[in-house]
Amino acid sequence: MKTKLGNNEAALAITAQALVVTDKGILAADESEGTIKKRLTSINVNSTEENRRAYRELLFSTPNIEEAVSGVILFDETIHQNDSEGRPFPQLLQEKGIIPGIKVDKGKIDLPGFAGESVTEGLDGLGIRLDHYRELGARFAKWRAVFTIGAHLPTRTGIQVNAHALARYAALCQAHGIVPIVEPEVLMDGNHDIDHCELVTEAVLQAVFAELLAQGVTYEGMLLKPNMVLPGKDSQQSVTPEQVAEATLRCFRRTVPAAVPGIVFLSGGQSPEEATVRLNAMNALDAAPPWELSFSYGRALQQPVLQAWQGKEENVFNAQHLFYHRAKCNSAARSGSYSPQMEEVAVAA
Ligand code: 13P
Repeated sequence: MKTKLGNNEAALAITAQALVVTDKGILAADESEGTIKKRLTSINVNSTEENRRAYRELLFSTPNIEEAVSGVILFDETIHQNDSEGRPFPQLLQEKGIIPGIKVDKGKIDLPGFAGESVTEGLDGLGIRLDHYRELGARFAKWRAVFTIGAHLPTRTGIQVNAHALARYAALCQAHGIVPIVEPEVLMDGNHDIDHCELVTEAVLQAVFAELLAQGVTYEGMLLKPNMVLPGKDSQQSVTPEQVAEATLRCFRRTVPAAVPGIVFLSGGQSPEEATVRLNAMNALDAAPPWELSFSYGRALQQPVLQAWQGKEENVFNAQHLFYHRAKCNSAARSGSYSPQMEEVAVAA
């Protein structure tokens, strides 16, 4: 039972609100070693520690990026790295007024006995790791759980074990003075339609918020990072941004308490423009929802940057320009004021 927030909870609430402040969103740059290797290999760059560092420096040192970015999610290796002048990355971000965050889950493993399902690991020793990351400057964290839609998936058990772990993580974060971003991702893989995605997302969010409540997590001091409600990647169904906005918000109104300060979407395999247009459609709806609707994109912010960079110093300027542009488009989508004409300016520049 809770009434007014205590001092620790009030401090968490201030950080959570700062992450979803007007016109800004989060850059997810917390790709694990396997994922960043895939991204770098796609542009023929070796995934060495120095190349990973140089790429992250390109992102974080982009001029004026703080106009559109409130926080950055880092990976364990990255939070320990420095820029080329020897300044630790968390400090570089803080000097720009950007809040450093950290991915603390250790990835997913197959859920024994439940073919096609997974559970996210990383709870053991988490309190100690949180204290360490807090000393390095992290003020928020991320934990991702993954749900696949299939003929009989996800199962009740698959949903339950992940919801339980998400709430264990969130409660631990808050006890250690860190704002938890709770990320239950219903994947786009499959040929299901948008209604099916809505039903599964609703079931997942119900279970997640039941566990968060049961484990005493303070809603004011957390953020939710969900998927948008979308048809599967292999579905033939075509949907308008307005249909996505309507289905997504209907689902959240039924499941997400109004005390949660913000919903920060993942992009999950949407193209950069799709992710922007759909966020914009949600923020353009007449009936304002109780939470800030923002972004915490990985691929949708970084894809054009990687393509432009190609691992070459002479491309850094152009790559940073494209990153700034993409972030500004999403910044505009936060108030429903994005328009496709903004993209033409980028091509012309
Ligand atoms: P995407 O936007 O690429 O889905 O990444 C966001 C993220 O942090 C996934 O955990």
